[in-house]
Order: sequence, then C-alpha cells, then structure tokens
Amino acid sequence: MTSKSQHKHAWVIGASSGIGAALAKSLAERGEVLALSGRNGEALNSVEEALPGQGHVVLPLDVRDPAELSAGVDRLLQDWPRLDRIVFMAGLYEPMRLRELDVLQVEKILAVNLMGAFNLIAAALPSLLQAGTRTQLAFCASVAGYRGLPNAQPYGASKAGLINLVESLKIEHGDRLDVRLISPGFVETRLTEKNSFDMPFRISPERAGERIAKGLTRPGFELHFPRRFTWLMKALASLPYALYWPLARRAR
Ligand SMILES: NC(=O)c1ccc[n+]([C@@H]2O[C@H](COP(=O)([O-])OP(=O)(O)OC[C@H]3O[C@@H](n4cnc5c(N)ncnc54)[C@H](OP(=O)(O)O)[C@@H]3O)[C@@H](O)[C@H]2O)c1
Repeated sequence: MTSKSQHKHAWVIGASSGIGAALAKSLAERGEVLALSGRNGEALNSVEEALPGQGHVVLPLDVRDPAELSAGVDRLLQDWPRLDRIVFMAGLYEPMRLRELDVLQVEKILAVNLMGAFNLIAAALPSLLQAGTRTQLAFCASVAGYRGLPNAQPYGASKAGLINLVESLKIEHGDRLDVRLISPGFVETRLTEKNSFDMPFRISPERAGERIAKGLTRPGFELHFPRRFTWLMKALASLPYALYWPLARRAR
C-alpha cells in the first residue's frame, strides 16, 4: 500500500465537463490525486464524486481572474506535498464568420483561451520555479491554431497565440519545468456540438482523456491526436502560402 504522499498530484483547470472531466478520471484511475477547477462548482462536485481514489479537491475559479488562480496555486502548494502537474484545459468556442464578428464574444474567447493561460503562468511560475520540483505544465491548444483556417475565428487566433506562448515557455523554462502542448483534433463535447459541418476523425472525450493521460506520463513536448488527422493538419501547415491558399479556400 502506497502512502498518499507517493501519489502524483494533478490540477486540471477546465475539469467540469468534456475532455477535462474525462482526463481527470483517467488520471485518477492511474492513482493520481486531483484538484478540479472550472467555474461551475456543482458540475465539478459531480465529476469529483465519480472519481476513483481519495483526497481529490474541488477548486471553483474563473481563469479570467488572476487573483483566483493565485489563490489556487497557493492553496495547492500549501496543502499538497508537491504539485506534479497542472493541465490548462479551459476553453471557449463560438463559430463565427469574420463578416459577422461579435466583438464581445471575441473578447470573452480570447480572455479565457489566451489571457487565462497568461494568468495561470503569472500566478504559478515564480512559485513553481522556487519549489524546484520540475512540475509539469500542460496547455490544451488545438490543431485549429496551426494555421489560419476559414470560419475559425476567433478560436483559431486564441489557440495560435496559446501555441506561441507555450513554445516560449518551453524555451525559457523547459530546463526546470516539464512544459507540454496538447493539440487535439475533433472531440465530441458541448464545445463541438455547435459545429454544423462534418468533423473528420472525431473521437469521444473518454478516448481523448485517456490519450492525454497516457501522453503526459511519457516524454515529449507536443501531444497531438488522432494522428491520422493531426499529421494531415501539420502537412497543410507546412505548405508555402502559394500552395496553402487554394487548398484552404476549398473549405470556406
Ligand atoms: N472538443 C474539441 O474538439 C476540441 C478540440 C481541440 C481542442 N479542444 C480544447 O479542449 C479544451 C476542453 O474543451 P472541451 O471540448 O472539453 O469543451 P467543454 O466541455 O466546453 O470544456 C471546457 C472547459 O473549460 C472550462 N472553462 C470555460 N471557461 C472558463 C473560465 N472562464 N474559467 C475556468 N474554466 C473555464 C469549462 O468549465 P466551466 O464552464 O465550469 O467554467 C469546462 O470545464 C478546450 O481548451 C478546447 O479549446 C477541444
């Protein structure tokens, strides 16, 4: 029997539904102790009740509020023997065409998907570097951030910004933190329910959660899946503009 302090301790931010909830379950099944964050406390409690294992905590917060993230970091560093991983899954999506932009929605999406990640880094980095425990810091972006796509704003821009930010974090602090980028293709959640188009190679949140949990325990930087789709997106992203435009325009 292992003592509690020998379990890994993981904080999933955006754990109240979808991929984050499934990831929390997969990590708990691997014996990890979880802290679950998101805005919806009731949903977080339901996720927590269904987790195997003991010692999990619910920490409702809004990633748009730097003070709430700082309080979360302080509490976990104080209550837990160590903070092994933080996974930033929080995200919003609204399909929008550029000629019909709703700038208030744009602001909200950027505030959660991109500013939320900056807020977390600002709140956690000094303490994590000081703790010197090589905490894993993983951020969920998307293949939608690889390159400008039709009908994909502002979500695409928020995820492109997030990829850029995580790359900088890896370069600046990869020697002391285990920085990870998660790039899923289509996953069936309330987020993608809003899509009216066919989503190729889509997978269930359970499969995505399992894939991420497994990937985070292995070495590497980017975790992308399902591979048949993400390699195709990577190939498209590597094309010069002259070849990319005609292909991308077909999807308008
Ligand atoms: N589904 C896909 O196909 C897909 C593909 C690529 C990437 N992703 C990314 O995967 C992540 C999870 O998405 P999902 O598909 O699982 O959708 P989801 O079920 O809507 O989950 C989004 C999570 O983000 C949390 N969240 C939203 N705003 C927040 C805020 N202001 N503060 C704290 N938490 C907040 C939500 O919790 P509350 O509502 O309780 O706040 C929820 O737990 C997102 O980053 C998304 O962009 C999804």
